[in-house]
Amino acid sequence: MKIKTVQDAIELLKILNAPPRLLMHHKLVVEAAQKLVKEIKSRFNLKFDANLVLIGAALHDCGKIVYPQEMTGSGNQHESTGEQMLLSKGISPEIARFCRTHAQWAETDVTLEDLLVSLADKLWKGCRDKALESRVINHIAQESNLPTCKVFVEADLVFETIALEGPTRLLRSVMDTGFEPYHNSLSEGFSKIVIYIPFYTKMSR
Ligand SMILES: [Fe+2]
Repeated sequence: MKIKTVQDAIELLKILNAPPRLLMHHKLVVEAAQKLVKEIKSRFNLKFDANLVLIGAALHDCGKIVYPQEMTGSGNQHESTGEQMLLSKGISPEIARFCRTHAQWAETDVTLEDLLVSLADKLWKGCRDKALESRVINHIAQESNLPTCKVFVEADLVFETIALEGPTRLLRSVMDTGFEPYHNSLSEGFSKIVIYIPFYTKMSR
């Protein structure tokens, strides 16, 4: 099966019987990834495959179809299992690798595409990961020949803007899937969602 678009990736998840909560998680990470790649492309002179990032965002946790307990608890069995599952379906290694690299971004051989999928998987819920963001900023500075401090100022604004929408995405996530939070998304975004719930309730009346 050829995966050329996000829609192809979502269709594959459905064929693989991904549960609604897992589908929703991938859709929300894709949303964050779309904003992330759009801003990074427009602000920095960089060559990277934005479509590949979106496809990675749409499939990165597919191993949780086999290990559904890792949707609500910790565990990393879904990483290599997801990669093998996609390879066994004839999906290319450059796509299948996101199942592993989205969690193992600290490895040395990761690409900017790998790092952006990992970052979208944090920012969707409003989570800021300083170590991961530093890796992304250093990578951009190196590739674009810009001072790290200049990249930081621009990139930090992009990351914060996407993270600020985290509470909305978290609410959509739990409301659309029966108020069952995805993994530790609510605990990591808890302070923001507590502030946001009264506002959201008022707005949605
Ligand atoms: Fe994820």
